[in-house]
Amino acid sequence: MTGSPNFDPNDSLLDWYATNRRDLPWRRDADPYRVVVSEIMLQQTQVDRVVPYYEAFVERFPSFEALAQAQRADVIRIWGGLGYNRRAVHLHELARVVVERHGGELPSDRRQLLALPGIGPYTAGALLSIGFGQDEPALDTNVRRVVARYAFSGAPNPSDLEWAAAYLVPRGRAGDWNQALMDLGSSICASTNPKCLICPLQPGCRSAGVTLRKPTHRPQPSFRESSRYFRGRLLWRLRSLAPGATMSLPEIEVSLAAHGVAEPPAGWRAVGEGLARDGLASITETDAGVRMGLV
Ligand code: ADE
Repeated sequence: MTGSPNFDPNDSLLDWYATNRRDLPWRRDADPYRVVVSEIMLQQTQVDRVVPYYEAFVERFPSFEALAQAQRADVIRIWGGLGYNRRAVHLHELARVVVERHGGELPSDRRQLLALPGIGPYTAGALLSIGFGQDEPALDTNVRRVVARYAFSGAPNPSDLEWAAAYLVPRGRAGDWNQALMDLGSSICASTNPKCLICPLQPGCRSAGVTLRKPTHRPQPSFRESSRYFRGRLLWRLRSLAPGATMSLPEIEVSLAAHGVAEPPAGWRAVGEGLARDGLASITETDAGVRMGLV
């Protein structure tokens, strides 16, 4: 699979990882509950931002049982400013299902994991390898890029890439291997300007030194115009209410305007309805108008 006869990618990358691994709290105790909390938090958020939220979350809810018993509003509150709050709802639902169906312990079987809410192929791979020590790949965006560059000289098709990723996993070391690929992908084998000269996989890499085309730049709407921004602001306001309290629509408008938040194009009611659909907020129609609160 590689170009260099005496090169063992496993030894080289695992040695590199032994000295360069990031010291992350979920790496200190690879208990499946902690692994799944960290993986769900890491799905759309950078490692450095996740660390304090992860620490507060597992301290407050140290197990599936503790999380399953919590009020949804408390879970959302402690998720705090991490964003993409639907992840908190999914994790809370997962905890309830794990307690009801599996006695509070995640199953160590891919098919059963994939049947659980919020667990897709990547998270199942991360859990099986990091949490259960099974020889499974965990293909997130970074790992896909590293494996594609290492094992192929052009862009592989998805099934070839999956085959190569599974082939490369060293027996008995999958958890470290997958996390080493993650660390390599976020430092040395970055999407632009990879540092091939200092890469531990360089001697066997099919793409080392190849000039990589920059990804096409697509203009994004500014964050302050995005629905994520408005959802985040509204949830932030509702989170500061006393448990069970609600606010009227005019109170929401005035209070957010006072914090410098412009009116969203579709209005705060539409933003609140979106949060309610995702199980993050409650919205009630009273004679005096609409009121919103946390779930
Ligand atoms: N990104 C997703 N999972 C990760 C992990 N376990 N360590 C570092 N980065 C990650």
